[in-house]
Amino acid sequence: MINQEYKKLLNGKSVIRMQSEFATERGKEIGYENVFDYSLGNPSVPVHEDFTKVLIDMLENEDPVAIHGYSPSLGNTLVRERVAKSLKERFGLDYETKHIFMTSGAAGAIAHAVRGVTKPGDEVITFAPYFPEYNQYINQTGAKLVVVPANTTDFQINFELFEEALNPNVQAVLINTPNNPSGIVYSTDTIKKLADILRVKEKEYGHDIFLISDEPYREIIFEGADAPYVSAFYDNSISCYSFSKSLSLPGERIGYVAINPKATDADIFAIICSQISRGIGHNCPASSIQLAVSKVLDKTSDLSVYETNMNLIYNKLVELGFEVVKPGGTFYIFPKALEEDANEFCMKARKYDLILVPSDSFGVKGYFRMAYCIDTEKVERSLVALEKFVKEEYGR
Ligand SMILES: Cc1ncc(COP(=O)(O)O)c(C=O)c1O
Repeated sequence: MINQEYKKLLNGKSVIRMQSEFATERGKEIGYENVFDYSLGNPSVPVHEDFTKVLIDMLENEDPVAIHGYSPSLGNTLVRERVAKSLKERFGLDYETKHIFMTSGAAGAIAHAVRGVTKPGDEVITFAPYFPEYNQYINQTGAKLVVVPANTTDFQINFELFEEALNPNVQAVLINTPNNPSGIVYSTDTIKKLADILRVKEKEYGHDIFLISDEPYREIIFEGADAPYVSAFYDNSISCYSFSKSLSLPGERIGYVAINPKATDADIFAIICSQISRGIGHNCPASSIQLAVSKVLDKTSDLSVYETNMNLIYNKLVELGFEVVKPGGTFYIFPKALEEDANEFCMKARKYDLILVPSDSFGVKGYFRMAYCIDTEKVERSLVALEKFVKEEYGR
């Protein structure tokens, strides 16, 4: 018999996907260029040209048996060595090859990190607003995702409610900064305070509490943002990285887990991940892609368009009277809807071919997300539609 638990999940179609599908259908009617599709977080800029060159060169000039051969399940050793070196140089932690485990994107990294530090029945805390896929990532391991309600003043952490949620069953805390959907970057003060609380609770409960830091947007930081490297503040930390957004490679499925060298069992964590990998059929990302990214670790795509788009959208939202916190990074913004029911708000926006994502699935009611990884020219046209929408529907 088909597993009924998975069957139940079929009813829970993601609202992001639904909005995206609507945008595609609408595009068939009026031309996709006329649909202001802010639904999906799919990078809009090409991969760095050096990645393409490296890959072509490798495919043309290197031994195909070596390039396309099995990689060790921890990832290619040379690649792991390069990642460790790059992280050490950038962030000053003593990473070595043994601390790195190559994964298929951030999703693969989180799948391993969570399994590596929890067992079924344990709790993992995250903070709203949060990436809805965390429900799948965590709950399907048998651990339980607990969501701390948002601090809607600035979308930093709601520490009062966090302390209430903490209990001895909590084995891990999962954060995402820069954040999808809010675009907010957790400040140094926030990370320090979080780390202080966790250290106190580790002592009180007599066990480790791991801080899993989901960092696919680490390189998309805007001017003036205070963007600390999370692992520098807490020993029992695991960084889950992805090249999906920094190098615009989401379809290539490449990222890594980097365990803090000072964490408990740091020296064996990557090997533990490779055992997990055997069980879940992950078995490492493509060999050729691992090798290619390892040669461009200090490069990113030209990410500047995201900041340009953010400023245009943020300024217009403020002008139109929206309540909105200015993003410090990513390609998302998370304003308050103009009516209580964000779903209604986003349905009305469809009439103006504005495809927005209501906030409920991010664990907050009454907001909406715009993923502005689209051309700036389209953003500019969309703001005319936004102004019309707000005027006609809300009299502003
Ligand atoms: C916050 C967050 N975490 C994880 C992921 C998954 O990233 P990847 O595609 O690299 O697996 C995403 C993707 O959009 C994301 O936004």
